[in-house]
Amino acid sequence: MPGLMAKKPLSVMMAEAESTGEHSLKRTLGPTNLVALGIGAIIGTGIFVLTGPVAATTAGPAIVLSFIIAGIGCAFAGLCYAEFASLIPIAGSSYSYAYTTLGEIVAWVIGWALVLEYGFGAATVAVGWSGYVRSLLGDFGLTLPASLSHAPGTQMVLSQGHWVPLSTVTGMSGLAGLPHAMSGFDLLALLGIMVVTAVLVKGIKESANVNTVIVIIKVSVLLVFLGLGIMFLTSHAGFAGKNWNPFIPPNQGAFGEFGWSGILRGAGIIFFAYIGFDAVSTAAQEAGNPQRDMPIGILGSLVICTILYIAVAIVLTGLVPYARLNVAEPIALGVDVTGVRWGSLLVKIGAIGGLTSTMLVMLLGQTRIFFTMAHDGLLWSWAGKVHPKLRTPWIGTIVIGICVMCLAAFLPITTLDELTSIGTLFAFTVVCAGVWILRRRQPELHRPFRTPWVPFVPIMGMAVSLLMMVSLHGLTWIVFLIWLALGLCIYFLYSRRHSKVQQGHPEAVLQPAGDTYSS
Ligand code: ALA
Repeated sequence: MPGLMAKKPLSVMMAEAESTGEHSLKRTLGPTNLVALGIGAIIGTGIFVLTGPVAATTAGPAIVLSFIIAGIGCAFAGLCYAEFASLIPIAGSSYSYAYTTLGEIVAWVIGWALVLEYGFGAATVAVGWSGYVRSLLGDFGLTLPASLSHAPGTQMVLSQGHWVPLSTVTGMSGLAGLPHAMSGFDLLALLGIMVVTAVLVKGIKESANVNTVIVIIKVSVLLVFLGLGIMFLTSHAGFAGKNWNPFIPPNQGAFGEFGWSGILRGAGIIFFAYIGFDAVSTAAQEAGNPQRDMPIGILGSLVICTILYIAVAIVLTGLVPYARLNVAEPIALGVDVTGVRWGSLLVKIGAIGGLTSTMLVMLLGQTRIFFTMAHDGLLWSWAGKVHPKLRTPWIGTIVIGICVMCLAAFLPITTLDELTSIGTLFAFTVVCAGVWILRRRQPELHRPFRTPWVPFVPIMGMAVSLLMMVSLHGLTWIVFLIWLALGLCIYFLYSRRHSKVQQGHPEAVLQPAGDTYSS
């Protein structure tokens, strides 16, 4: 038995990449397609929703600095992803990289952490999506009962005919006289995930054209917001200056609530906004010229999103006093200040469309990770079972969909977001370490793209990721450690004994040619 550090041979990985049909070998994607792929996966709930609560409760207008810190960390990690992606171009992403370089136990832990990235990430996006849908319905006079609009235990108040969380209107006069209620669960987030799960079971073809349309919608919405916001601020001298002062609100006596620790925690939370650039890495085998295009795709999408995010954060905190930003649809609130009603409507409709695609991409990522792990024998075989007609991993998708529906319905967005961030940052740390380790162990391997300045870049990637992890709440760490412990129990009780690599027949890992899925 090769043991816990058993590695899946690179040759087997490569053969799988070709046999699964995940990536056609046609090298058709150019730098523009790859940048668009990244932007399509990146822009979502992070910028459309989390910017508000982070500015209101954690960093104030200095959320701009949080965006810069998180962006720098992602750039270092992105360069490491690019090297692995060009070396091992397969859908399992960091799980697969770890399996062939660091060993099975590390791969398992990463795969398990990726559930946090994709599964919890999809739930986070669903809650953000639900906020925008609720707000749009409100514009048309439709309001959900308090009990069906938020995570359990959220105190709600009936303000101007709509149930809103009490925390979003604190400080408003006359609150005590309004009807109060407690919410039960987030019905819309649950329904959103249900529909996306159904789409994935049926199977979708990812197409570059659809992605381009979605990217155009998302970027246009942010540009419209910026245009209206800048026009308003330039014609109202002094308006923004008042809202930006103080730029870094004083610390409130606890770590992570304003002050520099707030900026750091803000980076850990808002890091969520950048998740998705690793999607570019899974297209490495389709890149026309991976040596040149992988870093362009990853870094290009990151740079564009970082610039957009920073601009949006500056304008938003200039338009709205940061303390008032703790709402479900902060970008729409920003447009409301400008008084352009169609702008607010456009932002809401665009955000709903854009977030739907992010939700889909994240849930799809989760089913892919489970599919790959199941085929390696590390998860139950039902998780990799492909429907004979639909050609989708339907049982795994339905089980994952139900779990994510429960997460989205019953957990608040802040909890979901921090768990997603910590799981993803952990995966980033291991990928950065993996690049460095593999350079030392197998320097001779042909790497179509080489991370520059090794070990400086991997070390910085690890350092910034760990710093952001450390800044998150203690409770997030406790849940994360429990999650890892649960994963290790499954590994030792099930996966280790069923692992195809452990059984000493790496060829057995190869899938039969027809056993592929199309979503
Ligand atoms: N970066 C993605 C988002 O913000 C996950 O929704």
